Amino acid sequence: MSAENLVQLLYLVATGLFIMSLRWMSNPETARKGVFSGVAAMVLAVAGTLAGVITTGGTHYWWILAAFIAGSAVGYPLAQVPLTAVPQRTALSHAFGGLAAGLVGTGKFFLYYGQSNEEALAPYIVTALMLEILLGFLTFTGSLMAAGKLQELKWIPQRPVTYPGQNVINLGLFTLALALGVALVLNPLAAWAPLAFMLVMVLSLAFGVLLILPIGGADMPTVISILNAYAGLSAVAMGFVLNNKLLITAGALDGSSGLILSIIMCKAMNRSFTNVLFGAFGQTQQAAAGGEAKVYKSDTPESAAQIMAQADLVVIVPGYGMAVAQAQHRVRELYDQLKKRGVTVKFAIHPVAGRMPGHMNVLLAEAEIPYDDLVEMDEINGDLPQADVALIIGANDVVNPAARTDKTSPIYGMPIIDADKARTVFAIKRSKNPGFAGIENELYYLDKTFMLFGDAKVVVGELARQLAGEGGH
Ligand code: TAP
Repeated sequence: MSAENLVQLLYLVATGLFIMSLRWMSNPETARKGVFSGVAAMVLAVAGTLAGVITTGGTHYWWILAAFIAGSAVGYPLAQVPLTAVPQRTALSHAFGGLAAGLVGTGKFFLYYGQSNEEALAPYIVTALMLEILLGFLTFTGSLMAAGKLQELKWIPQRPVTYPGQNVINLGLFTLALALGVALVLNPLAAWAPLAFMLVMVLSLAFGVLLILPIGGADMPTVISILNAYAGLSAVAMGFVLNNKLLITAGALDGSSGLILSIIMCKAMNRSFTNVLFGAFGQTQQAAAGGEAKVYKSDTPESAAQIMAQADLVVIVPGYGMAVAQAQHRVRELYDQLKKRGVTVKFAIHPVAGRMPGHMNVLLAEAEIPYDDLVEMDEINGDLPQADVALIIGANDVVNPAARTDKTSPIYGMPIIDADKARTVFAIKRSKNPGFAGIENELYYLDKTFMLFGDAKVVVGELARQLAGEGGH
């Protein structure tokens, strides 16, 4: 087999593994296999590229080794972050991906420009180059901003930052970058070309920051997924520049999966792309909240435990608060205690509960709750009218009936978990504060609803203790 064929074979196997990786990752039971096949695909891709370099007489091995060491030095500690920091960790990965694409594009342009290589700077290659650096550099700064917002860094404002004419200014800068790009496609060897190229770079870097400024911290998971799509497209463009088929297919998989994920998230929140990107969500609604004080009925974990012990079916609805409190292991204890008493326990999983896709699945899997008991929204909604108890743990928007009835509500039309249809509702949260959308929740004022105020970890732990008969009386 010729060296070229070997490289293409490695690339082909890697492509197959990338595709299977996505397929397997769509189900919690096969997700681990999906991760391993993604890793294997990446190893083969790197091996194939190295084989290609070696067999075509490449000499820059030290540079490759240095990049390998630098990448591992950054990647290893990044992989050690706690689960709650995974969204910002993912954002950092995209930032590096975007930076890599941008730098490769810049390197290629200056190399060919220095050689006055007209053929290598053919219009379609420069078009791909411009797309690569535009998307690459804007993904770099945009993802850094997103990671900073998610990490709640003090010097990056969490709230949407808006000012008059913002969209016009952003659009103007973007159009300027595009116009310079077109000029470069037409005259890649002009004397002013390097300057124009640098300007496109700076504009793209600035555009990444400006794009994220008007978006609130809580919308970052959707934004990250959109940036993922940009990074993927940038890799596709890089594939065209380098004539590398694997980069084109892997970039296309990356780009399309990012896009599909953002569409799923937007649908589950009943919001449009433009509303996420330009809506400054969480700004106006929060001001409107906190109006008249209504009265909640609250209850004690002791009596809630008694009612749950007598139930046939308890549906647990976890939300962002369970993640904040890291209550998943206490939830497992509660689950075990209820099961011991012969109660059927199901978890109602809303597609955008928490702050990242699969947030609840990951936490509950960490606590080793069987996958079979995690039920998707559409399916569990059929069971809720028969449920004796709906136990809401730090969820708010995903159980807000206003989404069904109140046309003026910002979440109107968002599909919700029908917790209000259960016979009795217990809701654990720390205060009367609203959730992500910043709006009141009528569910908490229903006759059948009882609040269990407190930190989710403490309250769920107490419920489990009561059920275990350690109530202390
Ligand atoms: P939220 O509506 O944000 O409500 C979470 C509730 O948890 C809050 O009301 C809060 O009330 C409570 N809480 C916080 N810390 C707690 C703790 N330590 N112990 C007990 N309770 C605690 O969450 P949700 O119902 O999961 O809905 C998710 C929201 O995020 C949706 O609006 C969704 O559109 C949005 N969103 C989701 C995603 C993804 S991909 N999942 C992405 C972007 C946006 P207290 O402060 O009173 O405790």
